[in-house]
Amino acid sequence: MKIIRARDYRDMSRKAANIVSAQIIMKPNAVLGLATGGTMEGIYDQLVEWYGKGDLDFSEVTTVNLDEYRDLAGDHPQSYMTYMRVHLFDRVNMDPARIHIPDGADPDEAKVCREYEESIRRLGGIDLQLLGIGTDGHIGFNEPGGAFEMETHSVELTDSTIDANARFFACRDDVPRRAYTMGIKSIMQAHKVLLAASGKNKAEILRRAFLGPVTPEVPASILQMHPDMTLVGDEEALSLLE
Ligand code: F6R
Repeated sequence: MKIIRARDYRDMSRKAANIVSAQIIMKPNAVLGLATGGTMEGIYDQLVEWYGKGDLDFSEVTTVNLDEYRDLAGDHPQSYMTYMRVHLFDRVNMDPARIHIPDGADPDEAKVCREYEESIRRLGGIDLQLLGIGTDGHIGFNEPGGAFEMETHSVELTDSTIDANARFFACRDDVPRRAYTMGIKSIMQAHKVLLAASGKNKAEILRRAFLGPVTPEVPASILQMHPDMTLVGDEEALSLLE
């Protein structure tokens, strides 16, 4: 595992975006696994800036998002599809046909999950998977205690994840209780993984995930076993990872 140390959020965003842009430059038709959340915003802003300068071309890039809330249609203001459009897709020359996000509005869980995995397989797998980390160690919506062998599935969100995501909704009651997420197995099959983290509130979970035992109680700990894993974090996030 490689650890890249950044000064602060801005520096972390730039360093992580550098790795994503290197992937696109080396392989213009790359398959990128994408995440949402506060950590990713600076990374997407940086990619958009480089696109604006003519340094990046997304026209042949395919994206596969990690997760989507259950029961939210793609055009709902808090859906992850809307997040991705606001922060990246509508600001670069992405081909809409190359965008993949589970359809949160489709209640046929078995079908949504099976078809999502099939589309990842058809694409030949994910070249670079971007990840954030929850303070409880979740990646995607893979919460503590879930099985490492899971592919895309439907999950019930934990109280801590609902609390953390409530800031994006009018009130806590509006946060959906379920989500579709790629599983740990789907994530571990990505050729490269890039986990980005910023801030003091991620320091303890990064210590547990990368210096502690590999255990489903800390889902991100499985990344210790990934053959091509890079962690980019700022000083505060990496403060307990010497
Ligand atoms: C979202 C996702 C989540 C977030 C995690 C960290 O697509 O996969 O696992 O990466 O909850 O969120 P932030 O960056 O908001 O701290």
